Amino acid sequence: METRVVSGSLAEIEADLIVVSASSGEKLQGAAQQVDAVLNGALTSLIANGGFKGRLFEYEWLYPAAMPTRRILLAGAGKSDHYDLRTLRRLAGAVVRQARNKGVKRVCLALQEAQGVLPEQHAAAIIDGALTGLMEPDLYKEKSDRTEVTEIQLWVAGDEDAARRGLDRGQKIAAAINFGRWLAEEPSNIMTPVRAAEEAQRLAADNKLECEILGEEEIRSAGMNSLLSVSLGSQWPPRLVVLTYKGGGDGPTLGLVGKGVTFDSGGISIKPAADMHYMKYDMCGAAAVISTVYALAQLEAKVNVVGVAGFVENMPGGRATRPGDVVRAANGKTIEIINTDAEGRLVLADALDFARKRGANRLVDIATLTGAIKIALGTVTPAVMGSPQSWVDDLLRAAADAGERLWQMPLFPEYKDQLKSNIADLMNTGGRFGGALTAATFLQQFVADTPWAHLDIAATAWTEKDSAWQTRGATGVMIRTLIELATSSAAK
Ligand code: BES
Ligand code: MN
Ligand code: ZN
Repeated sequence: METRVVSGSLAEIEADLIVVSASSGEKLQGAAQQVDAVLNGALTSLIANGGFKGRLFEYEWLYPAAMPTRRILLAGAGKSDHYDLRTLRRLAGAVVRQARNKGVKRVCLALQEAQGVLPEQHAAAIIDGALTGLMEPDLYKEKSDRTEVTEIQLWVAGDEDAARRGLDRGQKIAAAINFGRWLAEEPSNIMTPVRAAEEAQRLAADNKLECEILGEEEIRSAGMNSLLSVSLGSQWPPRLVVLTYKGGGDGPTLGLVGKGVTFDSGGISIKPAADMHYMKYDMCGAAAVISTVYALAQLEAKVNVVGVAGFVENMPGGRATRPGDVVRAANGKTIEIINTDAEGRLVLADALDFARKRGANRLVDIATLTGAIKIALGTVTPAVMGSPQSWVDDLLRAAADAGERLWQMPLFPEYKDQLKSNIADLMNTGGRFGGALTAATFLQQFVADTPWAHLDIAATAWTEKDSAWQTRGATGVMIRTLIELATSSAAK
């Protein structure tokens, strides 16, 4: 993909398509106004005649003979008070998908600016949206007849240097997100724990990142029996991937910890057959961690990060953990495994403790942890839980600044009562009620007093339907937020 910043007269742009936008019920601005002038008020009269309302994702194609670019897409930006960074990014994804459907190869994007969005962010959001919008998951199809977009020009009215910086940033973020989405899209017979670790290692080698990989024996000798217990029913050994990025000198270290269950059959507490195939995406948390560290290295962020991704396959083999088994985690706590399908927390327990031992003095874990979060919040937003509140607030702020939704759920001490075991320090399940909250409370037992936030992305890491701006499949949710968190002052 070729990308560049352009400016000046839109009448002289060389591309197959120029995309401009208009909000509902408002006057044309910027690029749209310029195109309107070149076309003697064609857009204004279209709007005046009621032919275009400016609703979000509404499209009108024009084919003017008077411009070298003989194709214009007028895209609706919706109500201007909802037109923010997130909507801008989505609109960029939506219009390039439209363009590709029409066989456009070279597209010039001249979308209007959103309120409060700086020139650099504007450019980053558009390129990010476009590049994540164009990714398709048809990895194993016979060659498709799709024409690919090969060039994106980003038209700006103002600060070109800022736009170039934003373009570079957006490109790096999108590449990292698409990499993580690809990890999750690969089926479980391909993306095994061993392969996932190899991919992380390859990425590290290409990006001056330190990468350490712990195998079954190292995991056992480090006392991580909780994580290990999940892998025992599988033919594949576990892998603990440790990616270290040092850009922050003597500053603190942010620990990012991800659940990487490459397939979750449920283990001996096996899941029903319907929808079980979705459990290949039970590694989106780990993928997000790897993507984030990758992006930070590319961006040369001034921060220290240790990314810990626990890869295991949860299967019901002859060595598998049985319901009722008791294991001792690396921090010394004993766990009675009531349900082998509550395996993500068993992986994260040891991975969180490991990140602390590796010097992380603030922690974020990310996981497709519970079906319960889908009941609580639907597929609209991931959840955050943690302590202290100031660290949760940093996550909420990073999400807002990155243009992603995030909603806090409670972690009251009473939830711990649901995890009481007769035989061990903890049970791994807390019953039907508040399932996402008892899962988070379980994790809390492994972070001691380190500031910690937990992101449950079970309901948002994957979609079953295409949206206007992105294909169905892995969404890459929260990667932008983690990048924003790490590059903001919160991590410094
Ligand atoms: N990987 C699942 C959670 C999940 C469900 C992710 C749906 C994505 C979509 C997790 O390991 C799991 O099975 N959780 C159980 C916990 C229960 C046994 C306490 C759940 O949520 O049902
Ligand atoms: Mn499970
Ligand atoms: Zn799982």
